[in-house]
Amino acid sequence: MSAGRDVTVADWLAALDRRAALRAKAGLTRTLRPRTAGDTVVDLAGNDYLGLATHPEVTAAAARALAAYGLGATGSRLVRGSTDAHHLLEDALADWLGTDRALVFSSGYLANLAAVRGLVQPRTLLVSDAHNHASLIDGCRISGAETVVTPHADVAAVAAALAAAPGRPAVVVTESVFSVDGDLAPLAELHAVARRYGALLLVDDAHALGVTGPEGAGGVAAAGLAGEPDVVVTATLSKALGGAGGVVAGPGEFVRHLVETGRTFIFDTAPPPAVAAGVLAAVRLARAGDALRAELAERAARAVGRLGAAGLAVSAPDAAVVSVTAPGPEAATGWAADCRERGVAVGCFRPPSTPDSRSRLRLTISAGVARADFERALDVIVACAPVSARTRIPGRLAWDAAGPECAHEPGLRAPQSRTKEGS
Ligand SMILES: Cc1ncc(COP(=O)(O)O)c(C=O)c1O
Repeated sequence: MSAGRDVTVADWLAALDRRAALRAKAGLTRTLRPRTAGDTVVDLAGNDYLGLATHPEVTAAAARALAAYGLGATGSRLVRGSTDAHHLLEDALADWLGTDRALVFSSGYLANLAAVRGLVQPRTLLVSDAHNHASLIDGCRISGAETVVTPHADVAAVAAALAAAPGRPAVVVTESVFSVDGDLAPLAELHAVARRYGALLLVDDAHALGVTGPEGAGGVAAAGLAGEPDVVVTATLSKALGGAGGVVAGPGEFVRHLVETGRTFIFDTAPPPAVAAGVLAAVRLARAGDALRAELAERAARAVGRLGAAGLAVSAPDAAVVSVTAPGPEAATGWAADCRERGVAVGCFRPPSTPDSRSRLRLTISAGVARADFERALDVIVACAPVSARTRIPGRLAWDAAGPECAHEPGLRAPQSRTKEGS
């Protein structure tokens, strides 16, 4: 770039252009689309599962804190001070999740980085599910610990990985509701295996908090593991709670460890107090939201039934994420664009956002969408489906034949190399 270097700025920019051209050739271009306030698109792409992002109690609580504290936290809590809004939210989250303590971060991504790194000691082995979110994968990488990537939801593989590392500290890392296909991790079995081998269990409850479990307390609570001393829970506050931020919840000693050593807590500006106050209102509404959860479950089953009846390959309706297999990345992009043209927003997931070679549409069901709009959205998705997406292979769904289960070799002993970056 400067005098004496072989690579000029022009070379660098040309190399970036070449890489963009390669992505375009593979149907993997990503572009930003405009979003206007109050747009009328039916949203089956966002994660506002309970419709709380715009709930009047949530926005009013945020507005009050905004007036009191101003726009931002103006610094980390260790430097600038810790507001009531943060403490009340953490107490409410710990109470809801049934843990000793909770600590909020400015995103779920940063919460996961802190949790994984914070759980690692010298010689720790991390055992990470092949479908884990990018933030967990990056946590494994940043921790520097040896990481075994196990095939998706394979309890026997987890047991084998732990058995092969006797005498070493170990952490089993998983999501509860997996973000791409919406399937559930076998949490009770994973916990039993982890406990048998003296390992800890880290669960990212991002897509389960507010959606599953008693009072919506998430997948860990649903599996009867709330408050277990060898379980640490993380979640984002940006999905069913409609806000922003992340949380790590678990034993008080671990939370203190993160306050004192967690780099993404210490060196990051705290979540804005207004957001913390809004999320606190959302927690109260989510706990009391059994009717919304029943509506969500009914809608997820309805979506799977309607799309399945049209010959599309859909995932099981375990929570509020439903994935529909697309014939390839370009077909997925075109399908999603056609839906959008007809006023329906759906997620479009292609490699490297998928844990395997399959492209999908991802529908995130929301109880906040009007019922008639939801039904119309299902009709639009079916009407826009490429013919090849409807092709069933006799005896099995199209996606069973679509490629290897996972981009990783089972049992890979290396830091995870896949990135999952969102749609
Ligand atoms: C499973 C999972 N974990 C963590 C995150 C990151 O949360 P945040 O968006 O708050 O950074 C996401 C996506 O947003 C997710 O889907």
